[in-house]
Amino acid sequence: MAAEVSLASLHTDEVRRDPYPFYAELHRHGPVCRVEPGDRYSYVVHGYDAAAQVLRDSATFKVMDETLLGAKPSWEGNRAHAVFMNSVFFTNAPRHTRLRRMFNQTFTPRRIAALEPAVERLTADLLDRLAEQAAGGAKVDFMSEFAFPLPANVLGELLGVPEADRAWYRPRALALGAILELGGATPDNVAAANTASEEITAYFGELAALRRRDPRDDLITALVQATDADGAPMSEEELLANLIVVFNAGFVTTTHLLGNGLTLLLERPEALARLRADASLTPRYVEEILRYEVPTHFSVRWAAADSEVAGVPIPAGCWVLVLLAAANRDPARFAHPDTFDPDRTETATLSFGGGAHYCLGAALARLEGQRGLAMLLDRFGDIRLAAPPGTPRQLMLRGHEQLWLTLA
Ligand code: HEM
Repeated sequence: MAAEVSLASLHTDEVRRDPYPFYAELHRHGPVCRVEPGDRYSYVVHGYDAAAQVLRDSATFKVMDETLLGAKPSWEGNRAHAVFMNSVFFTNAPRHTRLRRMFNQTFTPRRIAALEPAVERLTADLLDRLAEQAAGGAKVDFMSEFAFPLPANVLGELLGVPEADRAWYRPRALALGAILELGGATPDNVAAANTASEEITAYFGELAALRRRDPRDDLITALVQATDADGAPMSEEELLANLIVVFNAGFVTTTHLLGNGLTLLLERPEALARLRADASLTPRYVEEILRYEVPTHFSVRWAAADSEVAGVPIPAGCWVLVLLAAANRDPARFAHPDTFDPDRTETATLSFGGGAHYCLGAALARLEGQRGLAMLLDRFGDIRLAAPPGTPRQLMLRGHEQLWLTLA
């Protein structure tokens, strides 16, 4: 018999500031718990193996899609809703399989590997700028000067979004992301996300039209040209929705990988010194940063059939909250899960999800995290916090708004 828990504290300031004690408490109740009646979710899955099972079994555990909206109508009938519901994030097989296949034709390992020189060039440019701004001991905001522009520029390069337009994009991307937060679909947030969606859809519509007339070697052109098994292209609505979510999913997440990662290192001088002394440790450090402080704390699934997870029967028709960040701290999987330890041998995490919806950009995020942090440390021998880092409150896209540093 599964324990019954309340998820109410996930909405409190205390748990938002530091959710890990709450996750540890959940683990003490077993890998899966029933949620007290009255919550939107009927089950919370936080054990590593249990969460992996739910993510991999996409026939039983579906993401929210248009057909399920009756059970969660809060975004219905608005522009942001249309964007999400036409994207890979919020579609199930067979539509998801079709869209994902078209992405796989375009978002190839070759295309990602070919981005490495661009990642290095864009990182070096930003480091030059940081060095100028930090001259004479001036404080600089790492988030706005590096952690945001690096992934935005890399994705801009990949997709073909001109540099001049990337700063315009940031507040709109943040407005769209805000409604994905737990409890984030408030009327004000939904209104802001709708306006942002209209503007971004119009923007990508023009860009896609340009690429149809004048193809280039970028992802927008490749997606415009991609076809499914029947030789049909993505519909215009699907194309624009997926361009938007890829751009959004691709930079706010990586922004926080960089910001959370640097903060963790600055708070652990010994670990930082070790990495400085041996840059070949960078991939391990990035994996441990992703495990310990992942920006995406949860995923949501809907049970399409009766099933059993970790011995707990989950009936059809329930919403399930999958706590990825808690699974990454499951003591049954990771020894001393609350210790930051880049030497751990168990490194496979659920930070990028699993199964059919496994993160499309995992390889790119790793490339940016590794090159970004390694080149930053190489360039500046002395990096210090100029102000205490704020405490993030988000569970989705969790990270710092600002991170003030001095660099020398
Ligand atoms: C540290 C960085 C990142 C993290 C932690 C992250 C995390 C995730 C997670 C957990 C999922 C699965 C969601 C679910 O199953 O419900 C996901 C899916 C996805 N991610 Fe990422 N991501 C990152 C970077 C990126 C980048 C760089 C891109 C694009 C260039 C990207 C594009 C996507 C897309 C399109 C999906 C949806 C795939 C599908 O539903 O088929 N992500 N990501």
